[in-house]
Amino acid sequence: MEIEFVAADAALPARTVLARVIFEGEPADGALAQAIAASRFTGGKGQVLDILAPSGIGADRLVLVGGGKRQAFDALGAEHAAASAYSAVKASGLEALRIELPDGPDLAARAALGVRLAAYRFDKYRTKEPADKKPSIVKTQVGTSDPEGALAAFPPLAALADAVSFTRDLVSEPANTLYPVEFARRVKALERLGLEVEILGEPEMTALGMGSLLGVGQGSVRESQMVVIRWNGGAKDAQPIAFVGKGVCFDSGGISIKPADGMEDMKWDMGGAGAVAGLMHVLAGRKAKVNVVGILGLVENMPDGAAQRPGDVVTSMSGQTIEVINTDAEGRLVLADALWYCQDRFKPRFMVDLATLTGAVIISLGNDYAGCFSNNDELAGKLLAASGVEGEPLWRMPLPEAYTKQIDSMIADVKNTGGRPGGSITAALFLQKFVNGLPWAHLDIAGVAWKKPSSVPTIPDGATGYGVRLLNRMVQENYEG
Ligand code: BES
Ligand code: MN
Ligand code: ZN
Repeated sequence: MEIEFVAADAALPARTVLARVIFEGEPADGALAQAIAASRFTGGKGQVLDILAPSGIGADRLVLVGGGKRQAFDALGAEHAAASAYSAVKASGLEALRIELPDGPDLAARAALGVRLAAYRFDKYRTKEPADKKPSIVKTQVGTSDPEGALAAFPPLAALADAVSFTRDLVSEPANTLYPVEFARRVKALERLGLEVEILGEPEMTALGMGSLLGVGQGSVRESQMVVIRWNGGAKDAQPIAFVGKGVCFDSGGISIKPADGMEDMKWDMGGAGAVAGLMHVLAGRKAKVNVVGILGLVENMPDGAAQRPGDVVTSMSGQTIEVINTDAEGRLVLADALWYCQDRFKPRFMVDLATLTGAVIISLGNDYAGCFSNNDELAGKLLAASGVEGEPLWRMPLPEAYTKQIDSMIADVKNTGGRPGGSITAALFLQKFVNGLPWAHLDIAGVAWKKPSSVPTIPDGATGYGVRLLNRMVQENYEG
C-alpha cells in the first residue's frame, strides 16, 4: 500500500474513492443529507455508507464512515475510521482512496496506520483467486492541513505496521512450513535491521540443562531451537529489559493428544514468540533508544515413540524437577527454561512473557482481552496503560499464593497441571517459579492471537499480531530515555 499525505484541498486523482468521517448528531449538507436520510446511517462508530457516483463531489465513489461523537474522536478512532473505509471499498475496482479527517495532532498518521493494518492479507497460498475478488486499492492519500507534519510522524508507525505484518505472517504460516528451524531462520534474517540474533540448537540447550523445554520437543522430528534476539539502542552498559515468547510451532497435545476438531488452530500456538519477534522488528525499525532482549522458545509438540509420557519427571535449567502430568500443558514447560535462561544470562530489569498458554483464559476473558499476571504492580500498570492507548485489551488477573498447592507434585518439585479451577492462574503460578524473584509479567494471549471473525477494523480475520503494538508502546513510553 502506497501512502501519501496531501493538503486537505488537493485535487482528487482519477478513479478515487473519497472517504469522509461523519460525526453523530452533526447534520450533513445537501446531497449527502439526502443519501443519509435514505439509509440508517447516523455517524455511529463503525458505520459505513457507500454512495456510488455522488454528484458534485468530484469523486467516483464516496464512503461515509461513522466517527461516533466528535469530542471522543481520538487517534484510535482515526485508525478505525480509516480502516473501515478501506475495508468497505478495497475490492471496489477503484485504485485510490482519499481519506478526509478532522484535523488534530497525529490523526492523519494514525489513519494511515489503520489502512496499512487493515490491508494486511496472507494470500501466498492462493493460486486461483479471481482478479475481481482481489483488493484493487493500491494507494491511500490522507488529507490534512499539515502534510509535512504527518509525513514526519509516520515512519515509526510504518515500522510498526511492518512489524505487525511480520508477526501475522509467522502466525498464519502452517506448521509444515514454519517449524522451529524455519522460524529461527526468519528471525535471523532480521539482522539486516541491525538486530543481533543467536540460535541455540538441541546440543547447546542440552549442555545448559534445559530438560523441561527439550522434553516437549523430543517427540518431534523437528529440532527445537532457542532464539536470542538483541537490540542495543541504549547506553552501552545499560541493563536490558526482556521479553520471552512461547513458540510451539504446532501443539498436537503430544501423548495427551488433543481432539481432532479445531486442532488445526494449534499452528498458531507460537503467537507469543511471534509477538516478541515482531516487537524486536519494530524496535529496530524505528531505532529505539533502549537495550532489549527477546527470547523465543521454539518447539513442536508431537506424539511419537520418543515423545515424553504423562508421569515423566524432567529437570529444568533452574534445577527444579517437574512432573509432567499432561503433555498438552507444554507451553509452561518451554517457558520455564526460557525464563530461567533469560534472567540467568541477562539479569534484565524485568521480564514479560507472552504465550497462548491456556484454554482457561478464553473461558474467563473471551476473545478480546488477554490476561495479565504479574508479581509487580508498577510493571502491570505500565502494560495496562499501553494496552489502552494501542487498542489491545488487557485485564489484570490475580496470582494467589494459596493456589500453588494445586501444582504440588507427590514426587517432584512441581507438576505441570493444576486441575480445572483457575487453570490460567495455576499456569501463571507455575511460570512464577522460574523467574527467580525478578519483576515479571505474563500475558496469556490464547484468546486474542487469532480472531475469526475479527471485531476490530484494523485486524483482518486470522492472525492479529496482538502484543506487538502494546509492547512497543510500553517500551516507548517508559524506557527510551
Ligand atoms: N496451546 C494450548 C492452549 C490453547 C487452547 C491456546 C486453545 C489457544 C486455544 C495449551 O498448550 C494447552 O493445551 N493448554 C491446556 C492445559 C491443560 C492441559 C492443563 C488447556 O488449556 O487445555
Ligand atoms: Mn498444549
Ligand atoms: Zn500449547
